[in-house]
Amino acid sequence: MNISSDSKFDSLRSQRIYVAGHGGMVGKALVRALQAIGADDLVLKTRDELDLCNQSAVESFFETEQPDCVLFAAARVGGIHANNTYPAEFIYDNLMMAANSIHAAYRANVKRFLFLGSTCIYPRMAPQPMPESCLLSGPLEKTNEAYALAKIAGLKMCEFYRQQYGVHFHSAMPTNLYGPGDNYHPENSHVLPALIRRFHEAQESGQPEVVIWGTGQPRREFLHVDDLADGVLHLCTLPDPPNLVNIGTGTDVTILELSQKIAHVVGYEGKITTNPAQPDGTPVKRTDMTLMHSTGWKSKIELDDGLHRTYQDFLAEARHGALRQA
Ligand SMILES: NC(=O)c1ccc[n+]([C@@H]2O[C@H](COP(=O)([O-])OP(=O)(O)OC[C@H]3O[C@@H](n4cnc5c(N)ncnc54)[C@H](OP(=O)(O)O)[C@@H]3O)[C@@H](O)[C@H]2O)c1
Repeated sequence: MNISSDSKFDSLRSQRIYVAGHGGMVGKALVRALQAIGADDLVLKTRDELDLCNQSAVESFFETEQPDCVLFAAARVGGIHANNTYPAEFIYDNLMMAANSIHAAYRANVKRFLFLGSTCIYPRMAPQPMPESCLLSGPLEKTNEAYALAKIAGLKMCEFYRQQYGVHFHSAMPTNLYGPGDNYHPENSHVLPALIRRFHEAQESGQPEVVIWGTGQPRREFLHVDDLADGVLHLCTLPDPPNLVNIGTGTDVTILELSQKIAHVVGYEGKITTNPAQPDGTPVKRTDMTLMHSTGWKSKIELDDGLHRTYQDFLAEARHGALRQA
């Protein structure tokens, strides 16, 4: 591994850093990024070793391990079906994980806590692109309300602990992510990994046509998970980070354009057809990146390059029987 000697990360290299949820897609990317800058005092616990919903276990973990910094990428996450069917589990688990960890970190004198959520915290009818200031300005999307409420509580806890105790507890809300470790479940996956799988299978089996859901016209934003990790480490170097900041690319593509790019990466030369009879969802969903850009960070991995890398990761994961299909 290439160790980056960028002096910007000097302060992070010497810290003891707990990556919560290190086995997930985001957690793995954070660990890769930390290792790449030479931060080697990492605290990593699987869910079996530390259930973050268990308050006393979380308190004794923080007392014993005494991390300087926490990158919080643990969450119960899922697609629309899981969110809709199990809202009680989604709100309970995510509230407990956030409340236990933020409070125990404060009591253990953790210097910095970076809490990760997602842009689903913003109102259903948020202005586009979505600025951080639209938080709590309107009703949430019903299908993931439980998850969003728990994440809003977590980010507000960080804000209030910072306001009252002067600690560096702050939050970042990533847009749609993709990259190694993504979920390729045939029905439950997000649109980008689902399309990679569909085009790969169409290519393998010689299908003459791939039909994509809806008109193909909705616009969506996608950030490579390694870019997210880079943005998170950048935020951890700031002496006065924003309480809440979006992390995305600030640019979007239509689903049809995304499909064409994926077909190209996979080498699929058949026909791509839309099915306007199926629902499209929100016409545009994009983050306002003004605040994050003002801190001196921009995403670096272009979508074409990111898709190419991700398809290579997909093939490698499939070859090793490690493709995630939960
Ligand atoms: N993926 C995206 O497109 C995306 C987009 C925007 C924001 N985000 C945000 O990024 C964060 C991480 O997402 P992800 O995609 O990396 O999710 P993920 O792959 O499902 O990872 C979540 C991690 O949390 C752990 N976890 C869950 N419940 C736990 C518990 N009770 N105790 C301890 N650990 C627990 C999981 O452990 P197990 O593996 O043992 O279950 C897993 O390692 C979330 O806040 C999510 O909202 C993700």
